[in-house]
Amino acid sequence: QTARVAILGATGAVGTELLELLESRDFPIESLKLLASERSAGKTLPFKGESLSIEAVNENSFRDIDIVLASAGGSTSKAWAKTIVESGATLIDNSSAFRMNPDVPLVVPEVNPESVAKHRGIIANPNCTTILLGVAIWPLHQVRPIERAIVSTYQSASGAGARAMEELKEQARAILENRQPPTNSFPYPLAFNLFPHNTPINDLGYCEEEMKMVNETRKIFGVPEFRLSATCVRVPVDRAHSESVNLEFSSPFPVEKAREILSSAPGVKLVEDWKANYFPMPIDATGRDEVLVGRIRQDISNPNALELWLCGDQIRKGAALNAVQIAELLVEKNLVRVLG
Ligand code: A2P
Repeated sequence: QTARVAILGATGAVGTELLELLESRDFPIESLKLLASERSAGKTLPFKGESLSIEAVNENSFRDIDIVLASAGGSTSKAWAKTIVESGATLIDNSSAFRMNPDVPLVVPEVNPESVAKHRGIIANPNCTTILLGVAIWPLHQVRPIERAIVSTYQSASGAGARAMEELKEQARAILENRQPPTNSFPYPLAFNLFPHNTPINDLGYCEEEMKMVNETRKIFGVPEFRLSATCVRVPVDRAHSESVNLEFSSPFPVEKAREILSSAPGVKLVEDWKANYFPMPIDATGRDEVLVGRIRQDISNPNALELWLCGDQIRKGAALNAVQIAELLVEKNLVRVLG
């Protein structure tokens, strides 16, 4: 089976990576359409040796399309979802717009691939930190249920988009030259600094990004009461996120067993050289498909808990790769255009 694919938000940080992944993974494409805002109409992007024109999205954009990979923000996804679904295409959406909708599967292919079959035209790609965490801890949860997870994130500029990644570099340049750093994409200087994630804060004191991790993990794992508490922090890193993770079980989980499980877990690469003090780093995770996991150790404050550290490319597995894997599942399971 082949599919007629459109990328909505093709010029963005995730959009350009989607394009690269469709090519490098040799996705079975029948046709490919690149869509963005009017600002980008007429520009081109390379694909398989050709130069593809970018079109401004409009009412007719989704005719004769099977799969729309969208990464153009929540409001753009909301604005076009109905048109996409009514035209018979399946929307694989990177935004948070539909993630908690009970009719919309929220999918990490290494965790809950079976849930794609339940889609009714929209499948949601989870939040980047949630995807990276899920890939790393699901294999342990399968062996012994996790009773509680405490996570601190170290999130790169890429999560805020291509312009934000450029702004981080401009900020660094400005500070080194004793100029005022620009703050258009970020609320504060990120270069030579860090700040708690700047999404709205709820009555309990948790920001939206932290609540996404809680609620989305519960939905993906199918465990509505899953106990997770997160602190999300933006750090001056280009494009890979890191997470410090503490997992509590009902009894001790031997470190060696955790290491053995994670060394063969899908989508995970164990990176641990204890003698050299070498563990996952964002620069090593950048451009890679796997979530790098290391520093697995018993929590000295709790015999039933494990500590681990992970890094993953936010644009790749945290967004574009996960979306392309979902599209691959649709093709494999013959679920393209089920509603058409
Ligand atoms: P454009 O480049 O034309 O503005 P990022 O997450 O890296 O900031 O990228 C956002 C992506 O979403 C870009 O491709 C951007 O296109 C696209 N986009 C933003 N707003 C709209 C819109 N109203 N309609 C279509 N595409 C949009």
